[in-house]
Amino acid sequence: MRRAKILATGMYVPDDVVTNDLLAQVMDTSDEWITQRSGIKERRVIPDTYRMLTQLAAAPDKEAYLQTLYDTGIDGRIGAQMSTADLAFNATQIALRQANMKPQDLDLIIQTSVMSDYVFPGSACVLADKLGLTSTPTFSLNQGCAGFVYALSMADQYIKTGMYDTVLVLGAEVLSSLFEYSDRGRDMSVLFADGAGAAIVVPAEDDEPSGLLSHHLHTDGTLLDKLYADSFGSSTFPPAAKARIDTDRARPRMAGRAVFAQAVRRFREVIRECLEANKMQLDEVDHFLFHQANQRIIDAIADSLGIPSEKAYTNIRKYGNTSAASVPILLHETLQEGRIQRGDLCLLAAFGTGFNWGASLLYW
Ligand code: COA
Repeated sequence: MRRAKILATGMYVPDDVVTNDLLAQVMDTSDEWITQRSGIKERRVIPDTYRMLTQLAAAPDKEAYLQTLYDTGIDGRIGAQMSTADLAFNATQIALRQANMKPQDLDLIIQTSVMSDYVFPGSACVLADKLGLTSTPTFSLNQGCAGFVYALSMADQYIKTGMYDTVLVLGAEVLSSLFEYSDRGRDMSVLFADGAGAAIVVPAEDDEPSGLLSHHLHTDGTLLDKLYADSFGSSTFPPAAKARIDTDRARPRMAGRAVFAQAVRRFREVIRECLEANKMQLDEVDHFLFHQANQRIIDAIADSLGIPSEKAYTNIRKYGNTSAASVPILLHETLQEGRIQRGDLCLLAAFGTGFNWGASLLYW
């Protein structure tokens, strides 16, 4: 049977950097609290969010500023200058350049995001337009922070069966447009941020070491209410009520401690499952590329399984939690820094809302 491999990667994060100190100017938080609880020092956000945060920091009455913002938008403008598909487009350009390909060389696009450009269609359609593609098939998945592993597993199946040869897999998020930057929203808004990561998946040659080995995917819907955003889905009725949802309901909700405990448990389980399926030992893995949700979650997994820190590189300090984008961003950055060599064994694992989680094992 054909095997698939990742040929090229790309990433994009917006230029604007939001430090913990800037967040402390708009809500009751501190650099110390955020750093100790999550390991995050700064994150990237779209220009709209950055402009909003700097205006909010300077506003004498922050509640009044937020109310005006919700009623009229930034400087009287409703609508973002940069969306999920824009970030995805920028990451795609880098991956295409690395692969020496044009958009027309892609047989399929699988994009995964929590935050789509629109309610419908999915952001993959918006991206296809930006890439000038008029008949290439696309999927948009919403598997939360685990999305990239899910999407990669799908790309692998299409290549194994021979249906497609060149699949673009993307995790892209504009999460900063979802959260409320206030005392009410501080539990989540300090953690999440914007970014995109891309991978181009193609068939591996028979004699080369590179290739995707296996994927292990799970969902536990019974814990859905521990991390979710319900206000703009079909559960909100009648339709007109969506426009009048009070800000408390409009915010996503998270039971932080329950999410933390589940994440550590599920990561450990799926790593073991992945290694057992391939009859491999933990110390054979050269690189663990974990979803960047929280440095403490990663440390807890590494400590309990005995993974040395140099095998579990992290970049959450710079980017925060970029949800579906975090694993491909980490993969691209780790590759760019020359940490991964041809033939190295890499384990990708992610966990998030749903709860969805999964792992992929591959030889680079
Ligand atoms: N700044 C300052 N204080 C904050 C805060 C912020 N940004 N957010 C919450 N707090 C407060 C809480 O209101 C609470 O105050 P109280 O004791 O007066 O009620 C206090 O800090 C402690 O909250 P708690 O929830 O007990 O903190 P914690 O140690 O569990 O850390 C998280 C909170 C969210 C950082 C942690 O639970 C976590 O990382 N969970 C996993 C989240 C995650 O990874 N989600 C994404 C998965 S894909």
